[in-house]
Amino acid sequence: MVSLKPEDISNIGRQLWSARIIIAAVEIGLFELIGKKGATLEDVMDRGRLSERGAKAILNALIPLGLLQRNDNGICKLTQLSALHLMPGKGDYLGFQLLHMARLWEAWGDLPESVRSGIPHWVRHPGQRGIEDLVVLAEMLYPRNFSVSSRIAKLLGAGKKWKGLRILDVAAGSGAWSLAFLAADPTAKATAVDFGPVLGMAKRKAQELNVADRFEILPGNIREVDFGEGKYDLVILGHICHSEGPEHSEKLISKSAKSLAHGGKLLIADMVPEDDRRGPLHPLLFAVNMLVNTTEGGTFTFSEYRAWCESAGLKNVRNLAIKQTDHSPLIIADKA
Ligand SMILES: C[S@@+](CC[C@H](N)C(=O)[O-])C[C@H]1O[C@@H](n2cnc3c(N)ncnc32)[C@H](O)[C@@H]1O
Repeated sequence: MVSLKPEDISNIGRQLWSARIIIAAVEIGLFELIGKKGATLEDVMDRGRLSERGAKAILNALIPLGLLQRNDNGICKLTQLSALHLMPGKGDYLGFQLLHMARLWEAWGDLPESVRSGIPHWVRHPGQRGIEDLVVLAEMLYPRNFSVSSRIAKLLGAGKKWKGLRILDVAAGSGAWSLAFLAADPTAKATAVDFGPVLGMAKRKAQELNVADRFEILPGNIREVDFGEGKYDLVILGHICHSEGPEHSEKLISKSAKSLAHGGKLLIADMVPEDDRRGPLHPLLFAVNMLVNTTEGGTFTFSEYRAWCESAGLKNVRNLAIKQTDHSPLIIADKA
């Protein structure tokens, strides 16, 4: 539980400003404009075609935020933190997360109306989102989900006691979940379902890992694509149930269970609040993100997932604990 002090309540408002300043700096490409060598105010204005008033204000604010420093000659330089995490092209780049937040900004600004109506911003203001948002989202999730999935693959003995897996990666995005299994088991094969443009990016990730010949793509809508019957040893639902909502998640779990061979496993990765929905904070904040962005989405408890899995005929529904602070334990169930 987060315990707030009175001064924290005022600070929360200012954190909104801090967040928007850092996100805007990434959107403008400010850290690249400054570059490894540093830059003066005039350099930054010139390279980014920025107004003097605007550039001054944002550069100044980024100094106490710890993302820039400026010497007595007026040269701005990146700090260790911004050089490591906000310069594109590095493995530890966190800018995609911030760019994703920028895309959510408008809907979050409309939160009071979504609370009143229960209807997401995008339904009341249609036509402003495209498939490229999903590509950015999936790419942003790749590093963390690939890392978590690699640990899960090891835990389940992929490539050792569990070999030759046939995997179905539903709403695969970048393919992070199934690609980690292909990397762990050279005899495994995966089929990834998602929208075509998103799968284009997943295919590139498979090529980078030299597993593209074992990574098949099946473009289409997961609500319509036929997953088949008894075909897979592992079906992965990675971060999809929260946007599908309860009714479609239950259907998706049932369709996934049907596509599993006997002895196969269903793996669900999502943000999972406690049964009484009093914590942890992240899954409950994420449910609000689903309120403003989707018509039915939310976050679901372990008991809800267990009920959906059991009604799909799956057994032994349990958690797979992994040590990662912002990731809920994964849920796994067996087809007997
Ligand atoms: C939050 S991302 C998760 C991606 C990936 N599974 C991961 O965990 O990294 C959700 C993915 O679901 C896909 N998606 C959402 N609704 C879909 C639908 N109806 N049909 C196909 N794909 C869908 C999106 O394109 C996006 O790639």
